[in-house]
Amino acid sequence: MSTHNVWTHKGTFLLAAVGSAVGLGNLWRFPYLTGENGGGAFILVYALTIFAVGIPILIAETMLGRNSRRSPIMGMRFLTRTHNTSRAWESIGWLGAASAFLILSFYSVIAGWAIHYTWQMLTGSLVGADAETISAGFDALLASPALLTLYHTLFIIASGLIVGMGIHKGIESGLRIIMPALFIILLVVLAYGVTNGDFRAAASFLFTFNIADLSLEGWLAAMGQSFFTLSLGMGAIMAYGAYMSSEISLTRTALAIAVVDTAVAMVAGLAIFSLVFGAGLDAGQGPGLMFVTLPLAFAEMPFGALVGGVFFILVLGAAISSSISLIEPVAAFLVERFDLTRPQAVFAMVLASWALGLLTVASFNVYAEGTIFHTLFGRSAFEFIELLTNIFMPLGGLLIALFAGWALTHSEVMKEMRTNETWFAIWRLLVRFVAPAAVAFVFLRAIPQVEGYLIPAIGALVIVGAFAAGRTFLVDDSQG
Ligand code: PFF
Repeated sequence: MSTHNVWTHKGTFLLAAVGSAVGLGNLWRFPYLTGENGGGAFILVYALTIFAVGIPILIAETMLGRNSRRSPIMGMRFLTRTHNTSRAWESIGWLGAASAFLILSFYSVIAGWAIHYTWQMLTGSLVGADAETISAGFDALLASPALLTLYHTLFIIASGLIVGMGIHKGIESGLRIIMPALFIILLVVLAYGVTNGDFRAAASFLFTFNIADLSLEGWLAAMGQSFFTLSLGMGAIMAYGAYMSSEISLTRTALAIAVVDTAVAMVAGLAIFSLVFGAGLDAGQGPGLMFVTLPLAFAEMPFGALVGGVFFILVLGAAISSSISLIEPVAAFLVERFDLTRPQAVFAMVLASWALGLLTVASFNVYAEGTIFHTLFGRSAFEFIELLTNIFMPLGGLLIALFAGWALTHSEVMKEMRTNETWFAIWRLLVRFVAPAAVAFVFLRAIPQVEGYLIPAIGALVIVGAFAAGRTFLVDDSQG
Protein backbone atom coordinates (compact mmCIF):
# COMPACT_ATOMS: atom_id res chain seq x y z
CA MET A 1 0.00 0.00 0.00
CA SER A 2 1.03 3.52 -0.65
CA THR A 3 1.64 5.53 2.49
CA HIS A 4 1.22 8.83 0.73
CA ASN A 5 -1.12 11.66 1.34
CA VAL A 6 -2.21 14.50 -0.87
CA TRP A 7 -1.47 18.24 -0.87
CA THR A 8 -3.98 20.29 1.08
CA HIS A 9 -4.90 22.50 -1.87
CA LYS A 10 -5.32 21.85 -5.55
CA GLY A 11 -2.83 24.54 -6.42
CA THR A 12 -0.09 23.30 -4.10
CA PHE A 13 1.55 21.05 -6.67
CA LEU A 14 2.00 24.04 -8.95
CA LEU A 15 3.40 26.08 -6.08
CA ALA A 16 5.76 23.30 -5.02
CA ALA A 17 6.92 22.52 -8.55
CA VAL A 18 7.56 26.20 -9.27
CA GLY A 19 9.41 26.37 -5.94
CA SER A 20 11.57 23.47 -7.05
CA ALA A 21 12.12 24.82 -10.54
CA VAL A 22 12.93 28.41 -9.61
CA GLY A 23 16.30 28.40 -7.92
CA LEU A 24 20.01 29.00 -8.37
CA GLY A 25 19.47 27.70 -11.90
CA ASN A 26 17.38 30.77 -12.76
CA LEU A 27 19.15 33.44 -10.77
CA TRP A 28 22.77 32.32 -10.93
CA ARG A 29 23.30 29.80 -13.71
CA PHE A 30 20.95 31.10 -16.43
CA PRO A 31 22.34 34.66 -16.50
CA TYR A 32 25.97 33.57 -16.51
CA LEU A 33 25.41 30.91 -19.16
CA THR A 34 23.60 33.47 -21.29
CA GLY A 35 26.44 35.90 -20.71
CA GLU A 36 29.02 33.33 -21.77
CA ASN A 37 27.11 32.07 -24.78
CA GLY A 38 26.21 35.22 -26.62
CA GLY A 39 22.82 36.25 -25.27
CA GLY A 40 19.82 35.99 -27.61
CA ALA A 41 20.91 32.94 -29.59
CA PHE A 42 21.37 30.99 -26.39
CA ILE A 43 17.94 32.02 -25.15
CA LEU A 44 16.29 30.92 -28.37
CA VAL A 45 17.73 27.40 -28.11
CA TYR A 46 16.95 27.28 -24.42
CA ALA A 47 13.30 28.22 -25.05
CA LEU A 48 13.05 25.67 -27.85
CA THR A 49 14.35 22.83 -25.68
CA ILE A 50 12.08 23.87 -22.82
CA PHE A 51 9.07 23.49 -25.06
CA ALA A 52 10.07 20.50 -27.19
CA VAL A 53 11.86 18.43 -24.53
CA GLY A 54 11.34 20.00 -21.11
CA ILE A 55 7.56 20.26 -21.01
CA PRO A 56 6.88 16.78 -22.42
CA ILE A 57 9.25 15.23 -19.88
CA LEU A 58 7.78 17.39 -17.12
CA ILE A 59 4.36 15.97 -17.98
CA ALA A 60 5.80 12.45 -18.13
CA GLU A 61 7.56 12.71 -14.78
CA THR A 62 4.54 14.13 -12.97
CA MET A 63 2.43 11.42 -14.56
CA LEU A 64 4.64 8.64 -13.17
CA GLY A 65 4.42 10.17 -9.71
CA ARG A 66 0.69 10.70 -9.70
CA ASN A 67 -0.03 7.35 -11.29
CA SER A 68 2.03 5.45 -8.71
CA ARG A 69 1.36 7.69 -5.69
CA ARG A 70 4.66 6.61 -4.19
CA SER A 71 8.18 7.99 -3.80
CA PRO A 72 10.19 7.66 -7.03
CA ILE A 73 11.97 4.38 -6.25
CA MET A 74 8.95 2.60 -4.79
CA GLY A 75 6.79 4.22 -7.42
CA MET A 76 8.84 2.86 -10.31
CA ARG A 77 8.91 -0.56 -8.66
CA PHE A 78 5.12 -0.42 -8.48
CA LEU A 79 4.76 0.73 -12.09
CA THR A 80 7.02 -1.97 -13.49
CA ARG A 81 4.79 -4.53 -11.75
CA THR A 82 1.46 -3.04 -12.72
CA HIS A 83 2.62 -2.54 -16.30
CA ASN A 84 4.33 -5.84 -16.66
CA THR A 85 7.66 -4.38 -17.73
CA SER A 86 11.26 -5.18 -16.97
CA ARG A 87 12.43 -4.43 -13.40
CA ALA A 88 15.28 -2.51 -15.02
CA TRP A 89 13.04 0.55 -15.29
CA GLU A 90 13.27 0.86 -11.52
CA SER A 91 16.65 2.42 -12.29
CA ILE A 92 14.73 5.63 -12.97
CA GLY A 93 14.07 5.86 -9.24
CA TRP A 94 17.60 4.96 -8.19
CA LEU A 95 19.20 7.32 -10.70
CA GLY A 96 16.93 10.07 -9.40
CA ALA A 97 17.79 9.42 -5.78
CA ALA A 98 21.50 9.44 -6.62
CA SER A 99 21.17 12.74 -8.50
CA ALA A 100 19.18 14.35 -5.69
CA PHE A 101 21.82 13.37 -3.18
CA LEU A 102 24.66 14.62 -5.41
CA ILE A 103 22.99 17.88 -6.39
CA LEU A 104 22.04 18.73 -2.83
CA SER A 105 25.66 18.28 -1.76
CA PHE A 106 26.97 21.12 -3.95
CA TYR A 107 23.77 23.16 -4.27
CA SER A 108 23.90 23.74 -0.53
CA VAL A 109 27.52 24.93 -0.67
CA ILE A 110 26.76 27.46 -3.41
CA ALA A 111 23.55 28.61 -1.74
CA GLY A 112 25.76 29.14 1.31
CA TRP A 113 27.69 31.82 -0.60
CA ALA A 114 24.43 33.76 -0.76
CA ILE A 115 24.25 33.74 3.06
CA HIS A 116 27.68 35.35 3.08
CA TYR A 117 26.67 38.01 0.57
CA THR A 118 23.35 38.74 2.26
CA TRP A 119 25.32 39.51 5.38
CA GLN A 120 27.98 41.53 3.57
CA MET A 121 25.36 43.60 1.79
CA LEU A 122 23.10 44.30 4.74
CA THR A 123 26.00 45.30 6.98
CA GLY A 124 27.16 47.68 4.27
CA SER A 125 30.68 46.19 4.14
CA LEU A 126 30.82 46.46 0.38
CA VAL A 127 29.56 50.01 -0.05
CA GLY A 128 31.87 51.87 -2.40
CA ALA A 129 34.26 48.92 -2.67
CA ASP A 130 36.24 48.64 -5.91
CA ALA A 131 36.51 45.69 -8.27
CA GLU A 132 39.71 44.39 -6.75
CA THR A 133 38.39 44.44 -3.20
CA ILE A 134 35.21 42.61 -4.16
CA SER A 135 36.96 40.05 -6.25
CA ALA A 136 39.53 39.49 -3.49
CA GLY A 137 36.65 39.10 -1.03
CA PHE A 138 35.13 36.35 -3.14
CA ASP A 139 38.48 34.59 -3.43
CA ALA A 140 38.93 34.85 0.33
CA LEU A 141 35.51 33.28 0.89
CA LEU A 142 36.36 30.37 -1.38
CA ALA A 143 39.74 29.97 0.29
CA SER A 144 38.17 29.44 3.70
CA PRO A 145 36.99 25.86 4.35
CA ALA A 146 35.65 26.95 7.75
CA LEU A 147 33.41 29.70 6.38
CA LEU A 148 32.18 27.59 3.48
CA THR A 149 31.40 24.70 5.82
CA LEU A 150 29.58 26.99 8.21
CA TYR A 151 27.30 28.38 5.49
CA HIS A 152 26.82 24.97 3.90
CA THR A 153 25.78 23.57 7.27
CA LEU A 154 23.37 26.41 8.03
CA PHE A 155 21.71 26.12 4.65
CA ILE A 156 21.29 22.36 4.70
CA ILE A 157 19.94 22.39 8.27
CA ALA A 158 17.33 24.98 7.31
CA SER A 159 16.27 22.88 4.32
CA GLY A 160 16.17 19.71 6.41
CA LEU A 161 14.03 21.35 9.09
CA ILE A 162 11.38 22.33 6.56
CA VAL A 163 11.15 18.85 5.05
CA GLY A 164 11.37 17.23 8.48
CA MET A 165 8.22 19.06 9.51
CA GLY A 166 6.26 17.17 6.87
CA ILE A 167 4.67 17.94 3.55
CA HIS A 168 1.86 20.03 5.05
CA LYS A 169 3.34 21.86 8.02
CA GLY A 170 6.81 22.06 6.53
CA ILE A 171 6.83 22.15 2.75
CA GLU A 172 3.39 23.59 2.00
CA SER A 173 3.43 26.22 4.73
CA GLY A 174 7.02 27.16 3.98
CA LEU A 175 6.36 27.60 0.28
CA ARG A 176 3.25 29.62 0.88
CA ILE A 177 5.39 32.26 2.58
CA ILE A 178 8.57 31.96 0.53
CA MET A 179 7.15 31.98 -3.00
CA PRO A 180 5.00 35.16 -2.95
CA ALA A 181 7.84 36.95 -1.16
CA LEU A 182 10.21 35.87 -3.93
CA PHE A 183 8.02 37.27 -6.68
CA ILE A 184 7.70 40.60 -4.91
CA ILE A 185 11.44 40.86 -4.31
CA LEU A 186 12.17 39.92 -7.92
CA LEU A 187 9.96 42.76 -9.14
CA VAL A 188 11.56 45.20 -6.70
CA VAL A 189 15.02 44.25 -7.97
CA LEU A 190 13.83 44.57 -11.57
CA ALA A 191 12.40 48.03 -10.88
CA TYR A 192 15.68 48.99 -9.24
CA GLY A 193 17.62 47.65 -12.21
CA VAL A 194 15.46 49.59 -14.64
CA THR A 195 15.82 52.88 -12.78
CA ASN A 196 19.48 52.60 -11.83
CA GLY A 197 20.93 50.47 -14.58
CA ASP A 198 20.97 50.19 -18.33
CA PHE A 199 17.78 48.31 -19.18
CA ARG A 200 18.10 48.89 -22.91
CA ALA A 201 21.52 47.30 -23.04
CA ALA A 202 20.23 44.35 -21.01
CA ALA A 203 17.21 43.83 -23.25
CA SER A 204 19.23 44.08 -26.40
CA PHE A 205 21.82 41.67 -25.01
CA LEU A 206 19.18 39.12 -24.03
CA PHE A 207 16.88 39.41 -27.00
CA THR A 208 19.03 40.25 -29.98
CA PHE A 209 19.42 37.10 -31.91
CA ASN A 210 22.67 36.67 -33.75
CA ILE A 211 22.95 33.36 -35.56
CA ALA A 212 26.74 33.49 -35.52
CA ASP A 213 26.68 33.25 -31.73
CA LEU A 214 24.96 29.91 -31.85
CA SER A 215 27.88 27.59 -31.04
CA LEU A 216 27.32 23.91 -30.53
CA GLU A 217 28.66 24.22 -27.01
CA GLY A 218 26.08 26.88 -26.27
CA TRP A 219 23.44 24.57 -27.67
CA LEU A 220 24.47 21.87 -25.23
CA ALA A 221 24.65 24.20 -22.29
CA ALA A 222 21.14 25.42 -23.14
CA MET A 223 19.84 21.90 -23.21
CA GLY A 224 21.48 20.88 -19.92
CA GLN A 225 20.17 24.06 -18.38
CA SER A 226 16.62 23.29 -19.46
CA PHE A 227 16.75 20.01 -17.51
CA PHE A 228 18.36 21.58 -14.47
CA THR A 229 16.05 24.56 -14.31
CA LEU A 230 12.87 22.48 -14.54
CA SER A 231 14.23 20.02 -11.92
CA LEU A 232 13.75 17.19 -14.38
CA GLY A 233 14.97 13.63 -14.46
CA MET A 234 15.68 13.15 -10.79
CA GLY A 235 12.49 12.38 -8.97
CA ALA A 236 11.78 15.76 -7.36
CA ILE A 237 8.84 16.38 -9.65
CA MET A 238 7.78 12.74 -9.43
CA ALA A 239 7.74 12.91 -5.63
CA TYR A 240 5.69 16.10 -5.65
CA GLY A 241 3.42 14.66 -8.33
CA ALA A 242 2.62 11.73 -6.04
CA TYR A 243 0.85 14.15 -3.72
CA MET A 244 -1.09 15.89 -6.48
CA SER A 245 -4.86 15.69 -6.62
CA SER A 246 -6.13 13.51 -9.45
CA GLU A 247 -8.45 16.10 -10.86
CA ILE A 248 -5.95 18.57 -12.23
CA SER A 249 -4.79 18.57 -15.86
CA LEU A 250 -1.09 17.83 -16.12
CA THR A 251 -0.81 19.54 -19.46
CA ARG A 252 -1.88 22.91 -18.18
CA THR A 253 0.08 22.58 -14.97
CA ALA A 254 3.29 21.65 -16.78
CA LEU A 255 2.85 24.55 -19.16
CA ALA A 256 2.33 26.92 -16.24
CA ILE A 257 5.47 25.67 -14.46
CA ALA A 258 7.61 26.07 -17.57
CA VAL A 259 6.23 29.53 -18.33
CA VAL A 260 6.72 30.84 -14.79
CA ASP A 261 10.19 29.32 -14.55
CA THR A 262 11.25 30.82 -17.87
CA ALA A 263 9.73 34.18 -16.99
CA VAL A 264 11.67 34.27 -13.71
CA ALA A 265 14.91 33.47 -15.52
CA MET A 266 14.25 36.27 -18.05
CA VAL A 267 13.29 38.83 -15.41
CA ALA A 268 16.32 37.90 -13.32
CA GLY A 269 18.48 38.15 -16.43
CA LEU A 270 17.05 41.57 -17.31
CA ALA A 271 17.52 42.86 -13.77
CA ILE A 272 21.04 41.51 -13.38
CA PHE A 273 22.31 42.64 -16.79
CA SER A 274 20.71 46.08 -16.39
CA LEU A 275 22.79 46.53 -13.26
CA VAL A 276 25.91 44.99 -14.74
CA PHE A 277 25.80 47.07 -17.95
CA GLY A 278 24.70 50.16 -16.03
CA ALA A 279 27.90 49.88 -13.99
CA GLY A 280 29.90 49.40 -17.20
CA LEU A 281 30.87 45.84 -16.29
CA ASP A 282 31.37 42.75 -18.41
CA ALA A 283 28.54 40.20 -18.83
CA GLY A 284 30.73 37.20 -19.59
CA GLN A 285 32.14 36.63 -16.13
CA GLY A 286 30.98 33.03 -15.73
CA PRO A 287 29.98 31.71 -12.30
CA GLY A 288 31.36 34.86 -10.65
CA LEU A 289 28.68 36.99 -12.33
CA MET A 290 26.38 36.92 -9.32
CA PHE A 291 28.98 36.93 -6.59
CA VAL A 292 31.55 39.36 -7.98
CA THR A 293 30.14 41.41 -10.84
CA LEU A 294 26.75 42.01 -9.28
CA PRO A 295 27.99 43.03 -5.80
CA LEU A 296 30.29 45.47 -7.59
CA ALA A 297 27.32 46.96 -9.43
CA PHE A 298 25.40 47.27 -6.16
CA ALA A 299 28.43 48.80 -4.42
CA GLU A 300 28.31 51.77 -6.75
CA MET A 301 24.59 52.44 -6.75
CA PRO A 302 22.26 54.40 -4.47
CA PHE A 303 20.76 52.13 -1.78
CA GLY A 304 22.82 49.36 -3.34
CA ALA A 305 23.60 47.73 0.01
CA LEU A 306 19.94 47.45 0.93
CA VAL A 307 18.69 46.28 -2.47
CA GLY A 308 21.69 43.98 -2.79
CA GLY A 309 20.88 42.44 0.58
CA VAL A 310 17.28 41.94 -0.47
CA PHE A 311 18.50 40.43 -3.73
CA PHE A 312 20.60 37.83 -1.94
CA ILE A 313 17.64 37.01 0.30
CA LEU A 314 15.79 36.29 -2.94
CA VAL A 315 18.60 33.98 -3.99
CA LEU A 316 18.45 32.19 -0.64
CA GLY A 317 14.68 31.76 -0.73
CA ALA A 318 14.75 30.43 -4.28
CA ALA A 319 17.55 28.04 -3.35
CA ILE A 320 15.78 26.68 -0.28
CA SER A 321 12.51 26.08 -2.12
CA SER A 322 14.57 23.99 -4.55
CA SER A 323 16.71 22.17 -2.02
CA ILE A 324 13.66 20.89 -0.15
CA SER A 325 12.55 19.22 -3.38
CA LEU A 326 15.89 17.42 -3.48
CA ILE A 327 15.42 16.06 0.03
CA GLU A 328 11.78 15.00 -0.31
CA PRO A 329 12.10 12.12 -2.83
CA VAL A 330 14.87 10.40 -0.89
CA ALA A 331 13.31 11.02 2.53
CA ALA A 332 9.94 9.73 1.33
CA PHE A 333 11.66 6.60 0.04
CA LEU A 334 13.37 5.95 3.38
CA VAL A 335 10.04 6.38 5.16
CA GLU A 336 8.23 3.98 2.83
CA ARG A 337 10.91 1.38 2.50
CA PHE A 338 12.45 1.24 5.97
CA ASP A 339 9.62 2.57 8.08
CA LEU A 340 11.75 5.40 9.43
CA THR A 341 10.01 8.41 10.89
CA ARG A 342 10.16 11.46 8.64
CA PRO A 343 12.67 13.32 10.85
CA GLN A 344 14.93 10.24 10.92
CA ALA A 345 14.72 9.87 7.14
CA VAL A 346 15.47 13.54 6.54
CA PHE A 347 18.34 13.43 8.96
CA ALA A 348 19.91 10.44 7.21
CA MET A 349 19.62 12.02 3.77
CA VAL A 350 20.81 15.44 4.84
CA LEU A 351 23.71 14.14 6.88
CA ALA A 352 25.03 12.03 4.01
CA SER A 353 24.63 14.84 1.51
CA TRP A 354 26.23 17.31 3.90
CA ALA A 355 29.25 15.05 4.30
CA LEU A 356 29.64 14.71 0.55
CA GLY A 357 29.32 18.50 0.31
CA LEU A 358 32.57 18.80 2.26
CA LEU A 359 34.32 17.55 -0.87
CA THR A 360 32.85 20.49 -2.79
CA VAL A 361 33.95 22.82 -0.02
CA ALA A 362 37.47 21.44 -0.22
CA SER A 363 37.50 21.69 -4.02
CA PHE A 364 37.77 25.46 -3.72
CA ASN A 365 40.72 25.44 -1.33
CA VAL A 366 42.59 22.52 0.26
CA TYR A 367 41.82 20.13 -2.62
CA ALA A 368 41.84 22.76 -5.33
CA GLU A 369 44.34 20.71 -7.27
CA GLY A 370 46.48 17.63 -7.24
CA THR A 371 44.01 15.23 -5.67
CA ILE A 372 42.92 11.78 -6.81
CA PHE A 373 40.03 13.42 -8.66
CA HIS A 374 42.38 15.56 -10.69
CA THR A 375 44.56 12.60 -11.50
CA LEU A 376 41.69 10.30 -12.41
CA PHE A 377 39.16 12.65 -13.96
CA GLY A 378 41.07 15.81 -14.77
CA ARG A 379 38.81 17.95 -12.59
CA SER A 380 38.04 18.82 -8.98
CA ALA A 381 35.62 16.81 -6.86
CA PHE A 382 33.04 19.57 -7.22
CA GLU A 383 33.37 19.56 -11.00
CA PHE A 384 33.23 15.80 -11.02
CA ILE A 385 30.03 15.70 -8.95
CA GLU A 386 28.49 18.36 -11.15
CA LEU A 387 29.48 16.38 -14.23
CA LEU A 388 27.83 13.26 -12.81
CA THR A 389 24.58 15.12 -12.25
CA ASN A 390 24.80 16.57 -15.75
CA ILE A 391 24.84 12.98 -16.98
CA PHE A 392 22.30 11.53 -14.56
CA MET A 393 19.62 14.17 -15.04
CA PRO A 394 19.27 13.89 -18.82
CA LEU A 395 19.66 10.11 -18.57
CA GLY A 396 16.86 9.97 -15.99
CA GLY A 397 14.79 12.25 -18.21
CA LEU A 398 15.40 10.00 -21.19
CA LEU A 399 14.27 6.88 -19.32
CA ILE A 400 11.25 8.71 -17.90
CA ALA A 401 10.25 9.81 -21.40
CA LEU A 402 10.61 6.29 -22.77
CA PHE A 403 8.73 4.65 -19.93
CA ALA A 404 5.86 7.13 -19.96
CA GLY A 405 5.79 7.15 -23.75
CA TRP A 406 5.76 3.39 -24.23
CA ALA A 407 4.56 1.67 -21.07
CA LEU A 408 1.61 3.78 -20.02
CA THR A 409 -1.62 3.05 -21.85
CA HIS A 410 -3.59 5.52 -23.91
CA SER A 411 -6.38 5.70 -21.34
CA GLU A 412 -3.96 6.19 -18.44
CA VAL A 413 -2.26 9.05 -20.20
CA MET A 414 -5.52 10.67 -21.24
CA LYS A 415 -6.76 10.50 -17.68
CA GLU A 416 -3.67 12.32 -16.47
CA MET A 417 -3.24 14.84 -19.24
CA ARG A 418 -6.93 15.70 -19.63
CA THR A 419 -6.46 16.91 -23.14
CA ASN A 420 -7.59 16.12 -26.69
CA GLU A 421 -6.21 13.50 -29.06
CA THR A 422 -4.10 15.99 -30.99
CA TRP A 423 -2.16 17.13 -27.94
CA PHE A 424 -1.87 13.55 -26.80
CA ALA A 425 -0.39 12.57 -30.16
CA ILE A 426 2.07 15.48 -30.10
CA TRP A 427 3.13 14.66 -26.56
CA ARG A 428 3.65 11.00 -27.37
CA LEU A 429 5.69 11.76 -30.45
CA LEU A 430 7.87 14.07 -28.37
CA VAL A 431 8.48 11.65 -25.49
CA ARG A 432 8.85 8.58 -27.66
CA PHE A 433 11.27 10.00 -30.21
CA VAL A 434 12.18 13.65 -30.08
CA ALA A 435 13.24 13.86 -26.41
CA PRO A 436 15.31 10.64 -26.52
CA ALA A 437 17.05 11.76 -29.70
CA ALA A 438 17.75 15.20 -28.25
CA VAL A 439 19.23 13.75 -25.08
CA ALA A 440 21.31 11.27 -27.04
CA PHE A 441 22.64 14.18 -29.06
CA VAL A 442 23.78 15.93 -25.88
CA PHE A 443 25.62 12.85 -24.70
CA LEU A 444 27.30 12.30 -28.02
CA ARG A 445 28.58 15.81 -28.15
CA ALA A 446 30.19 15.28 -24.77
CA ILE A 447 32.46 12.74 -26.44
CA PRO A 448 35.01 14.81 -28.36
CA GLN A 449 35.74 12.15 -31.00
CA VAL A 450 32.17 12.04 -32.22
CA GLU A 451 31.99 14.80 -34.78
CA GLY A 452 30.20 15.90 -37.90
CA TYR A 453 28.14 13.43 -39.86
CA LEU A 454 28.26 10.82 -37.10
CA ILE A 455 25.89 12.86 -34.98
CA PRO A 456 22.81 12.75 -37.23
CA ALA A 457 23.64 9.12 -38.05
CA ILE A 458 23.74 8.09 -34.40
CA GLY A 459 20.71 10.30 -33.71
CA ALA A 460 18.76 8.31 -36.27
CA LEU A 461 19.98 5.09 -34.67
CA VAL A 462 18.74 6.29 -31.31
CA ILE A 463 15.29 6.97 -32.73
CA VAL A 464 15.14 3.47 -34.13
CA GLY A 465 16.58 2.17 -30.85
CA ALA A 466 13.95 4.02 -28.83
CA PHE A 467 11.32 2.35 -30.94
CA ALA A 468 12.88 -1.06 -30.50
CA ALA A 469 13.35 -0.51 -26.77
CA GLY A 470 9.74 0.45 -26.44
CA ARG A 471 8.62 -2.68 -28.24
CA THR A 472 10.99 -5.09 -26.60
CA PHE A 473 11.20 -4.11 -22.97
CA LEU A 474 7.71 -2.88 -22.50
CA VAL A 475 5.00 -5.44 -22.83
CA ASP A 476 1.96 -3.36 -23.36
CA ASP A 477 -1.15 -4.81 -24.90
CA SER A 478 -3.20 -1.71 -25.44
CA GLN A 479 -0.73 0.15 -27.63
CA GLY A 480 -1.64 -0.17 -31.28
N1 PFF B 1 15.63 23.66 -10.61
C1 PFF B 1 16.58 24.11 -9.64
C2 PFF B 1 17.20 25.39 -10.10
O1 PFF B 1 16.94 25.84 -11.21
O2 PFF B 1 17.97 25.95 -9.34
C3 PFF B 1 17.66 23.08 -9.38
C4 PFF B 1 17.14 21.74 -9.07
C5 PFF B 1 16.27 21.57 -7.99
C6 PFF B 1 17.44 20.70 -9.88
C7 PFF B 1 15.71 20.35 -7.76
C8 PFF B 1 16.89 19.47 -9.65
C9 PFF B 1 16.02 19.32 -8.59
F1 PFF B 1 15.47 18.18 -8.38
